[in-house]
Amino acid sequence: MYDEGHALVCQLSDFFLRSDSLCYEIGTSTGELMARLVDHNRHKTGIQFVGLDNEPAMIEAATGRQRPGDPVSFELTDIVFKELDPCDLIVAYYTMQFIAPKFRQAVLNKLYEALEWGGALILFEKVRGPDARFQDINNQLYTAFKRGNGFTGEEILNKSESLKGILEPFSTEGNLDLLRRAGFQDIQTVFKYVCFEGFLCIK
Ligand SMILES: C[S@@+](CC[C@H](N)C(=O)[O-])C[C@H]1O[C@@H](n2cnc3c(N)ncnc32)[C@H](O)[C@@H]1O
Repeated sequence: MYDEGHALVCQLSDFFLRSDSLCYEIGTSTGELMARLVDHNRHKTGIQFVGLDNEPAMIEAATGRQRPGDPVSFELTDIVFKELDPCDLIVAYYTMQFIAPKFRQAVLNKLYEALEWGGALILFEKVRGPDARFQDINNQLYTAFKRGNGFTGEEILNKSESLKGILEPFSTEGNLDLLRRAGFQDIQTVFKYVCFEGFLCIK
């Protein structure tokens, strides 16, 4: 599913990246998506890609993945405190869910402000169901999905324990409320699978 989502982000980038564009990825992790974005847009000269992450090991891995001469740089920084330059595209692929709720609105406000008119935020998030019944169904489907991907019951439980207080997904409506308060009016869901959702938000 990660692969499918990465491919979709690359296709969406066609609509927003021009030869002089700046593109950020917030929470670039090991730079896998960034490498695909750079490759996908290789024919456009002058684009600058910047990957941000607040984990040193991730920035090290992402930098190691970089090909010599590629127009990409990586920066160890916390998006909560980072000032962004004007840009045409921002990708936050399963990252916002890790930003503490008390900072999330301010971060989205900052992303909106940094975008040029006509620019876009591509936001992928794990999402909660709209009420307890749907959340219960989603949880069970997600557990079955993980089991189908080879994880044992114990591994699934341990992962869920380790993410307590760290991964805090909002519902679809919760995300839309955040995005609208930040200033986004034009928002479309471009991907949805049970508890995973991708939003295309155009300024
Ligand atoms: C699920 S991973 C992102 C995966 C990546 N976008 C990809 O497609 O391969 C989330 C990343 O967000 C980073 N992250 C979490 N909070 C952050 C923050 N406040 N500022 C910058 N990066 C953050 C984590 O270190 C982690 O590498």
